[in-house]
Formats: sequence, structure tokens, C-alpha cells
Amino acid sequence: MAYTVTPWEVSGDIDYARLIKDFGTSPLSDVLLKRIEKLAGGLHHMLRRKIFFSHRDLDILLRKHEQGNTFALYTGRGPSGNTHIGHLVPWLFTKWLQDRFGAELYFQITNDEKFFIKDLSLEETTRLAYENALDVIALGFDPEKTHIFIDTEYAKTLYGIAAQVARRVTFSQAKAVFGFSNETNLGLAFWPAMQAAPCFLPSVLKKRKVPVLIPAAIDQDPYWRISRDVAPRLGYEKPAAIHCVFLPPLQGAGGKMSASEAESAVFTTDSAAEVKRKILKYAFSGGQATVEEHRKLGGNPDVDVAYQWLRFFEEDDSVLAQLYKDYRSGALLTGELKMLLIRKLTGFLEDHQRERERARKRLDEFLLRD
Ligand code: TRP
Repeated sequence: MAYTVTPWEVSGDIDYARLIKDFGTSPLSDVLLKRIEKLAGGLHHMLRRKIFFSHRDLDILLRKHEQGNTFALYTGRGPSGNTHIGHLVPWLFTKWLQDRFGAELYFQITNDEKFFIKDLSLEETTRLAYENALDVIALGFDPEKTHIFIDTEYAKTLYGIAAQVARRVTFSQAKAVFGFSNETNLGLAFWPAMQAAPCFLPSVLKKRKVPVLIPAAIDQDPYWRISRDVAPRLGYEKPAAIHCVFLPPLQGAGGKMSASEAESAVFTTDSAAEVKRKILKYAFSGGQATVEEHRKLGGNPDVDVAYQWLRFFEEDDSVLAQLYKDYRSGALLTGELKMLLIRKLTGFLEDHQRERERARKRLDEFLLRD
């Protein structure tokens, strides 16, 4: 089955095991999970469920941590629209890493990138950058340890690092890694150096070699390939990465949620009524056509979007296992399962939206500016 996973397009029925091979990353092994569990004093449910499933050099990073060399976290957001709950997946996990490892977080918001590749003005991507920053802050990151930066507003620092990277990457490499062509605009052709730059930012700011771990969806991996390639030549450590799968869109069937298709996603600013309407109307069901048939034959949680979303957002393994069993047996109906998801999400979003509004006054606690 055909699928595409690049930083700018994710579509089709993704074979994640195959991606590990194609990208040349490593599966997150049980041995490595045990090690994380020991160091972190537990395992996040997204690790237990292999929602984070792949990595680069996480073992090496953990060894450095064990030797007392604290790492920094780096992740980001391309502000092309409002934040949806799929975006929150790596951020929630990043928050857990910060809490458990005491790590500083560097969070890049790429208003320049989205200006280069979308039909949006720089003013609009900058406005969205600030809106998206509210969602990051709302998740409860530690203001003492969290540094959010919007590219054009932190350009003086970032550009110097990006220039060091760009000097060492040829256009033919960039073409091979990102699929650029002669029609690619120059902004975008240079852009990968801007996403690589924060891999080295902690070291530049602290004036010592700081190991970096990047939690992000797997589509961002091409950037880490060039970052890792140039790192030794710049005198820095190669950044480590931990990759997650995509939250499926409401309609199911592969690909990822899209901020430009409002009906495929639940946004962090959706009202409780909106969340309910979208899920009842669109969430792809693994249930049978009638209640009678469902009771007799049971449903298929593996394709049911309500169940799949609960895998991401229901932290309790025993609750999830019971839902799986009851849905399979037919004891639990699609409508009931959807209502459980709706309750889970609206509960979460109620808190999130309150914190999000509060964050408007807290931006200065988090933003890095030149
Ligand atoms: N390119 C990413 C996007 O479009 C944004 C981004 C920048 C990012 N730096 C990152 C994502 C680091 C993950 C990790 O969303």
C-alpha cells in the first residue's frame, strides 16, 4: 500500500516498521524502555503503548545522562493554523520528559517556514505563532526551564547557527533529503538550516556541549539527518531523537490530522458542543451496522477512531484494556465508546482552554527574543 511521509506531506496507510528501515532509525526496544523506566521512575503511557516507537541514539543520550550530563529537549511547531489535539501528542510527552529528567526545553515556532511553503502572509504566520505558543504554555511547562522562540523574532541568534549549518550542506544533499527542485523558492531551500540550528542552540547559549533530545513525529526525521551529519564538523554532539506515530484523523484510514481540514480534527479551541458534534458525526467506527449485529459480532477497536484516540489520551491501562474487551465482545456500543471519548476530551479541553487564556499574560515568562 502506498504512503508518503515527508516533512510536508503525510498520507496513505503508513507502515511504521517499514519507515524505521527506510529512514534508518532504530525501534524503541524493550531493553531501552526498561532503562528509561528506571531513570524516569516510570513509563509514560505513550511509551508503554509504543506511540513513541523509534529513536536515534537515545541509548547514547541516556548514558550521558547517567554520567551526570543533563540533556536539553528540543521540539517545535509550524504555525500554519490553530493547534489541534494531534499536535499535543509530542508536546505532552515532552512535558513528561521535562518533569522526569529536569531538562530544559527549547521550543521553535517556525513562522518563516510556513510563510515559505503555505499561501499565508508572514503577518498571519506570526499571529498564529503567538496563538500556538499559548497552547504550549497551557500544558504546564516549567517557565524557568522552557524557552519558546519565534524564528523571525530570534533571528539574530538563530541565523548565526543556521549559517554554520548551511555552509556545510550542499544543494544536492538538500534535494536528496527534502525533494527540493529548481522550482523550490530560496527561502525554503535554506530553511532546513533553520530547523537544524536549535539542535546546537543549548550548546551555544551555555557555552558547553549540551546533549539534545528531540521528541517529534517521525515526519521531522529528515532534518535530524542533516543536523547529525554536520554536528561533528561544528564541534557539537549529534542530537538524539525519539519519534512518534500520528494521531489518526477523525475519518480514520491513514495519514494525519490536518489543521487545514477543520472537520478532520479537534482543535484546542473547539467548544464542548463542537467536539461532541465532530466525534458523533465523523469518527470512523469499527462497529457493526446495527445494534443487533454489534451485540452478536462485536466491533473492531483496531480501526475504530474513538478507541484509537483513547489509546493516546486515556492514561489508565486497565480502563483501556476493559474498553478493548467490551468493544470486541459487543458489550460496548459505538455510541457509548464515542461518549467516553467525548467526555475525556472535553474534560481535558476545559482545563486547557482556561490555562490557554491565562497564558496570554504569561508569554514573557517563556519567550526568547534577541
Ligand atoms: N517543521 C515543524 C512543523 O512544520 C516545526 C518544527 C521546527 C519542529 N522545529 C521542530 C517540530 C523540532 C518538531 C521538532 O511542524
